[in-house]
Amino acid sequence: MFKIAVVDKIHSDGIKLLEKNQKFQHEVIEDLSKKNLISKLPAFDGITLRRGKIDAEILEKCKNLKVISRHGVGYDNVDIKSLKKNNITLLVTATTASVSPAEHIMFMILNISKGKNFYDQAVRNGKFESIMHMKNNNNFELSNKKILIVGFGRIGRKLIKRCLGFEMKVYAYDPFVDKRIIESLGGIKVDDLNKSLKEIDILSLSVPLTEKTHNMINLEKMKIMKKSAVIINISRGGVVNERDLNEALNNKIIYGAGLDVFEKEPPTNANPLLTNENVLLSPHAATFTEECLSKMSIETVQNIINFFENKLDKSMIVKL
Ligand SMILES: NC(=O)c1ccc[n+]([C@@H]2O[C@H](COP(=O)([O-])OP(=O)(O)OC[C@H]3O[C@@H](n4cnc5c(N)ncnc54)[C@H](O)[C@@H]3O)[C@@H](O)[C@H]2O)c1
Repeated sequence: MFKIAVVDKIHSDGIKLLEKNQKFQHEVIEDLSKKNLISKLPAFDGITLRRGKIDAEILEKCKNLKVISRHGVGYDNVDIKSLKKNNITLLVTATTASVSPAEHIMFMILNISKGKNFYDQAVRNGKFESIMHMKNNNNFELSNKKILIVGFGRIGRKLIKRCLGFEMKVYAYDPFVDKRIIESLGGIKVDDLNKSLKEIDILSLSVPLTEKTHNMINLEKMKIMKKSAVIINISRGGVVNERDLNEALNNKIIYGAGLDVFEKEPPTNANPLLTNENVLLSPHAATFTEECLSKMSIETVQNIINFFENKLDKSMIVKL
């Protein structure tokens, strides 16, 4: 019998899978405080992890732990060095967490290019007629606009199809992806990020948070961009510098932004973007569709079952 800690609630479809399998016993842990995790987790052989931080101190105490199965693809909430040192395998939901995020990027782009909730408010507030003669219409068509996708992995490759469907011109910056892959999907590979930033209308980020990508898009980069440009970040908070973004929006250095992720989650009142009307915000919700959450919960649990039954698809393993 393997003991599995389900750290943070997941969709019931994943839990049903665990319940059906006699070889596994599980406990859902909803209190994500370090105090609780450090006292509970040493008893388990495997962990499924949605939110919750598993640091080196916790991992040092987990002597039975063989595998962590992330509900998601980012793993900045786990101490990688300690996983490696203790020979713990890290798995991700490699096939199920990209369609909804790509759709979420489109939701943000469409919302911003069509005036956020402006029209809805206008109709409700009796401004139906006056909108027709509106001056300074900032709405724009997506057709023929240039989008730069930074990070051309699973999400980037789903996003390009959606952008091409809107007749956009798609550029991709990802030093680790071959030009032929980008071109075969209808994109143009970019080698010089700064040069491309000068020319594009929309920048969308789908990179992991690493030392290299932290603050990758700062004020200096925003100043290179067109004044009409829009930045969308669904990847991780900190890839776009929040203070710089606030300054760029306030000083009309760029036009708009959409953020699903924040340096500190949930963001505190000290975050100036919470009161900035030029940014569209969502609560780290890019995967929050019924389909995506169900499929991710199943994949998270199936990965851990496959690990213990020696049937694991290698593409789910993160190379540490
Ligand atoms: N908001 C959400 O709910 C949500 C959901 C899914 C994923 N994410 C985030 O989005 C990220 C991307 O997801 P994915 O599934 O496409 O991951 P992925 O690993 O398939 O793709 C990431 C791509 O980024 C590229 N990359 C790495 N460093 C780079 C750099 N310095 N410059 C340019 N490209 C770089 C990699 O080569 C890779 O192709 C995840 O790491 C995760 O943090 C967020």
